[in-house]
Amino acid sequence: MTNNAKKIIIGSDHAGYAMKEIVKRFLLDRDMEVKDVGTDSEASVDYTDFGIKLAGPVSAGEFQRGILVCGTGIGMSMVANRFKGVRAALANDLFSAIMSRRHNNSNILVMGGRVIGDSLALKLVEAWLETSFEGGRHQRRLEKMDQL
Ligand code: RB5
Repeated sequence: MTNNAKKIIIGSDHAGYAMKEIVKRFLLDRDMEVKDVGTDSEASVDYTDFGIKLAGPVSAGEFQRGILVCGTGIGMSMVANRFKGVRAALANDLFSAIMSRRHNNSNILVMGGRVIGDSLALKLVEAWLETSFEGGRHQRRLEKMDQL
């Protein structure tokens, strides 16, 4: 893991709150610097608001990596990918989480708190943090995305 990946921003809605707290503990236990944008309970909120709170700072370059959790991961990934420079990957399986780093240089991992269990979520987080972007032809493809 590179040093800049030691700083991470996380967020969720109510449906992802419990998983976000578990992920936060996991990251803190690994001496990562964690910025939690909320939500702070299981009271119903709009995932949109928390996706915006997280994707904004990633888009601005304040954080190189972020993790979002909602019920399915779908809404959060839709919101986050509206932001320039954000490459949010909805990954509820290990292969997708790893490939989103190798081929897509994903900078936000999105998971569904109602789709997968906590232990799989932590495996995805760990693999996603440890996996590097392969660059080369994949970089060219990402540059085409940035021109949109
Ligand atoms: C909340 O009920 C749910 O819609 C939200 O967590 C998410 O799954 C949206 O995509």
